[in-house]
Amino acid sequence: MANVAVVGAQWGDEGKGKIVDWLSNRADMVVRFQGGHNAGHTLVVDGKVYKLALLPSGVVQGKPSIIGNGVVVDPWHLVGEIEKIVAQGVAISPDILTIADNACLILPIHPALDVAREAAASAPGAKIGTTGRGIGPAYEDKVGRRAIRVCDLANEDDLKIKIERLRSHHDPLRAGLGLEPIDPAALLAQLLEIAPKILPYVKPAWRVLDQAQKDGKRVLFEGAQGAFLDVDHGTYPYVTSSNTVAGQAAAGSGIGPRGVGYVLGIVKAYTTRVGEGPFACELNDEVGEHLAVVGREVGVNTGRARRCGWFDAVLVRQSVAINGIDGIALTKLDVLDGLKTLKICVGYRINGEVLDYLPSSLKAQASAEPVFEELEGWSESTAGVRTFKDLNAHALKYVRRIEELIGAPVALLSTSPERDDTILMRDPFQG
Ligand code: GDP
Ligand code: IMO
Ligand code: MG
Repeated sequence: MANVAVVGAQWGDEGKGKIVDWLSNRADMVVRFQGGHNAGHTLVVDGKVYKLALLPSGVVQGKPSIIGNGVVVDPWHLVGEIEKIVAQGVAISPDILTIADNACLILPIHPALDVAREAAASAPGAKIGTTGRGIGPAYEDKVGRRAIRVCDLANEDDLKIKIERLRSHHDPLRAGLGLEPIDPAALLAQLLEIAPKILPYVKPAWRVLDQAQKDGKRVLFEGAQGAFLDVDHGTYPYVTSSNTVAGQAAAGSGIGPRGVGYVLGIVKAYTTRVGEGPFACELNDEVGEHLAVVGREVGVNTGRARRCGWFDAVLVRQSVAINGIDGIALTKLDVLDGLKTLKICVGYRINGEVLDYLPSSLKAQASAEPVFEELEGWSESTAGVRTFKDLNAHALKYVRRIEELIGAPVALLSTSPERDDTILMRDPFQG
């Protein structure tokens, strides 16, 4: 089985976009299987920067790409993103892009609800710090069985019935938040206007994948967010509203679990998170500042500063288990250049006890104090290094220690945002 699933192993922004773009060269097809345009995936090719939110990162290499059923699709955002990326010289056509007909839509009522709820959340700890893009409310409508799906765009009568169903659920909610009731005629008009721009891409995506499997094609699954933003496995409730773990690659694209293949966890050489929630290794000192500035840790979509901290081996080891990670791509090693001492979290002290995993209780997560081990840093530059033997001895030691602590080998190592500043240690497509 030559397929590969790429997943974030921390709290997102590990560099999934860069690695998916690099691996696309070896794949026949790229599939997004969860999340929506809350994702922000940055690719840098010869200095040119591409920022993708909903389009699979394979499009930049011209690879056939699928937006799978597990994704929530904001059709207005998607049309805008296609226009933006086409203006950068990338070809997007129905030959390249497939949108699953059974994916659910994000409607304008969803970001409105998302933002209104966050604004109304005044109790301590009540704000999630969402991206405000309507992700949570859209997934609520999906599991509530009242969502409008991509296939509904082809039928005006279906849209009318579904808008009525949405009204009966949303209008009382909206009233409680001081929002106007839904205007059904305006929403229908908006949907009918966008439909012809979306429908040419719409297909039963599972059939495209099934055929690809039968033809022996290599599929690359592109995850969004990260394991600790997973709605089941993350730091709940400070999570996103989808499963972000590798298991979702199957359900969110319409392929059996054996089809997922090799699981590549993307791991940043330190830790970041955006939004609220527990973060044991967070640094509010000059080292945190170094990571934020040198790592340019600013959100792609929201422009928010990312919180930064030391590498958390406990977290990533847990991620290796819940994702079934076979190997990792270690990114942003270069950001650690020049730090005298490096710390790695190897346990949590909670209520006087040391644990080697993150417990589920939010209270325990919030009170966890990291237990660190220290390694010597390096003054040499690793930025742009393209061969393993050119890494200095201390950087090498740091990488080896991470492998040991998390129980997974490094398959790829990234040393700058540029596509080609990537070291291949073992090819995920070769298993
Ligand atoms: P994603 O959401 O996982 O795709 O990650 P983002 O694109 O949101 O954030 C990762 C950021 O780090 C982007 O700006 C990348 O260009 C950048 N990046 C990726 N790999 C490296 C690396 O090895 N070194 C440095 N310095 N930057 C990197
Ligand atoms: P990529 O794919 C980092 C975070 C938000 C917030 C929480 C819930 O670029 O790694 P949501 O809007 O999903 O309801 O917000 O999840 N979040 C991300 N953080 N990277 C992302 O995506 C994220 N997508 C959502 O900041 O804390
Ligand atoms: Mg991102």
